[in-house]
Amino acid sequence: MDSIQTHVEAVEGATAFLKERLASIPEIAIILGTGLDGVGEQIEVYQEIRNDDIPGFPKLTVQSHSGTLIVGKLGHVPVLALNGRAHLYEGYSAKEVTLPVRVLGALGVQTLIVSNACGGMNPAYRAGDIMLIEDHINLMGANPLEGPNHATWGPRFPDMSDPYASSLRHIAREVAQEEGIPLHEGVYVSVVGPNLETRAEYRMLSTMGADVVGMSTVPEVLVARHMDINVLGFSVITDECDPDNLASISIEDVLAAAEMAREPLARLMSRVVSRIHSS
Ligand code: HPA
Repeated sequence: MDSIQTHVEAVEGATAFLKERLASIPEIAIILGTGLDGVGEQIEVYQEIRNDDIPGFPKLTVQSHSGTLIVGKLGHVPVLALNGRAHLYEGYSAKEVTLPVRVLGALGVQTLIVSNACGGMNPAYRAGDIMLIEDHINLMGANPLEGPNHATWGPRFPDMSDPYASSLRHIAREVAQEEGIPLHEGVYVSVVGPNLETRAEYRMLSTMGADVVGMSTVPEVLVARHMDINVLGFSVITDECDPDNLASISIEDVLAAAEMAREPLARLMSRVVSRIHSS
């Protein structure tokens, strides 16, 4: 087991590295998930740093993730975007995949918008649809907060009564309505992956109360809430997971479906950050 001290030092090292290099540090950060780096193209980039060049940041091993940290403007609002993320299925621990979120917290980021690609189990959801994450279920069997608590970061037993801030969800719903963007709202369940689920697993997960399933996000949200960062989350449905009628899917299908959501998701995020910024 890595000691908490090693992890704290890695976070502090990456934080110091970025503080030295970033001309300014936005209050809002965005994590762009699988196939959603196109959303990042809407950002007017001031600075871009490759994850590989940031000490302690996990190296991304999946081609669909480019792995850069961007500082720029989305609409008129300064944002810091993490383009791509590390996953547990790549062999990283929950602490390792969430190191960038710790660094965001240490840099003073106050709001984190997470996004991901997911399988839609709710029968009303279609590939290319967007879901506002209302709540989550952690089925990864791992937790970035396990082990000794570093009290400077947050409490031993962080509250999870409203992990995806209802005030931010309210803004997202309002903006979606104004923009005419259909937006589901539901529960995300996280699994390790990397395999997609069996029919029996989709049945079980939806019986548990989840609307969508994916392989990321929850560890990041746990760390963000531990540090009292406000969180908003969007899932893009990339495959329809009806256990009685299950088609096989490939990563290309996932990326193509994510691409369908690029424009509306970018518009939604851009309007949401501007509303958060001015509130
Ligand atoms: N299951 C888990 N993760 C996913 C899926 C899925 O069906 N689709 C995209 N990410």
